[in-house]
Amino acid sequence: MKSLSAALIVAGAALAFSAAAQAEADGEAVYNQACMACHMTGAAGAPIKGDAEAWEPRIAKGIETLYEHSLTGFNAMPPKGGSMNLSDEEVKSAVDFMVQAVE
Ligand code: HEC
Repeated sequence: MKSLSAALIVAGAALAFSAAAQAEADGEAVYNQACMACHMTGAAGAPIKGDAEAWEPRIAKGIETLYEHSLTGFNAMPPKGGSMNLSDEEVKSAVDFMVQAVE
C-alpha cells in the first residue's frame, strides 16, 4: 500500500508540473505570435520585453490595469495587440510573460 500511495503522489506532482509548464508556454507562444512585432523592437513606443526601465512604471500601475489595457487598447497599443482571435486568457498570459521577464 505504501508504494501505491507514493506512486500516486508522484503522478499528482507530475500533473501539477505539466499544467504550470503549459501555462508559461502559452504566454510565450502568444507573445511570439501577436506581441513580439512591437514589443521586441519598441515600435510606436511599445515597452520592449526585458527592458526593466520601460516596464517599471507600467508594472507600478498594477497587473489588472495592464491586463485591461492589453485587452481594450491603450494609445498606440491596439486591443489584444490587433489579434482579436486571441482569448482574454491568452492575452493575459502574454502580459504575464512580458512582466515576468523584468521581475
Ligand atoms: C502594433 C504594435 C503593438 C502590438 C502588436 C502589441 N503592442 Fe502592446 N503596446 C504597444 C505600444 C505602442 C504600447 C505603449 C502605449 C503607450 O504607453 O502609450 C504598448 C503597451 C503595452 C502594455 C502596457 C500598457 C500600460 O498600461 O502601460 C502592455 C501590457 C502591452 N502593450 C501588452 C501587449 C500584449 C500582451 C500584446 C500581444 C497580445 C501586445 N501588447 C501587442 C504596441 C503594441
